[in-house]
Amino acid sequence: MVLEVDRAVVAYDGRPVLDGVSLKVAPAEVVAILGANGSGKSTLVKAALGLVPLSAGEVRLFGTPLRRFREWRRLGYVPQRVGAGSGVPATVAEVVAEGRLARRGFLRVASAADRRAVAEALEAVGLAERAREPVAVLSGGQQQRVLIARALAGGPELLVLDEPTAGVDAASQEAFAGCLDRFVRDGGTVVFVAHELGPLRPLITRAVVVHHGEIVHDGDPPETDNDHVHPHAGAA
Ligand SMILES: Nc1ncnc2c1ncn2[C@@H]1O[C@H](COP(=O)(O)OP(=O)(O)O)[C@@H](O)[C@H]1O
Ligand SMILES: [Mg+2]
Repeated sequence: MVLEVDRAVVAYDGRPVLDGVSLKVAPAEVVAILGANGSGKSTLVKAALGLVPLSAGEVRLFGTPLRRFREWRRLGYVPQRVGAGSGVPATVAEVVAEGRLARRGFLRVASAADRRAVAEALEAVGLAERAREPVAVLSGGQQQRVLIARALAGGPELLVLDEPTAGVDAASQEAFAGCLDRFVRDGGTVVFVAHELGPLRPLITRAVVVHHGEIVHDGDPPETDNDHVHPHAGAA
């Protein structure tokens, strides 16, 4: 298994927001995590990456318990955006090059392989011709694609993305779908959080619906983009 979350409990200030969640992801799966705002989707993803502590349960990445896991280059993570614009004046290529840091170490100068990986990642998200521009001049959707390219540049086996398509223009959604398709065909595994599946629907192999900190559905994707908001509707 690429990822195993076993009866994970996460509590903030004593309040459980993940309540014994179990999830397994096999190689080459594309798993969409759906659910209403505040249901615990981001917390589940962060728990799976060791970014929030578990109060009970266990996580294994590539078969290794999280506390012993060190091969971070096998993972790419695109966090949920909190407002647009970091205020940091960086070019598109500079941001994507950060995705090579786990591989090259902080003191070594970028190699030809690093530069090639950055160029390929930008190509993959359809931004090759914008490499030298400041990130700030790009649209929200294009900036999101820069972050995806940064995750891809490290050559991960598992890509975890938190709401990569939220508030993103249609062109960027299509570019993202094409890029995910190629990533998976090259052997990658994807877990992403989404509100609406849109153009990603044909790519996903499984949908997991989180509701009040629990997984209430794990299997076929919902038929329409509104189904997951009311996971029990239509069950009767
Ligand atoms: N750092 C935090 N401290 C306290 N409460 C938090 C924190 N992060 C999230 N929460 C709460 O945990 C619940 C789940 O949040 P989250 O995982 O972000 O949900 P989702 O991603 O599904 O919108 C929400 O009620 C949210 O307010
Ligand atoms: Mg979230």
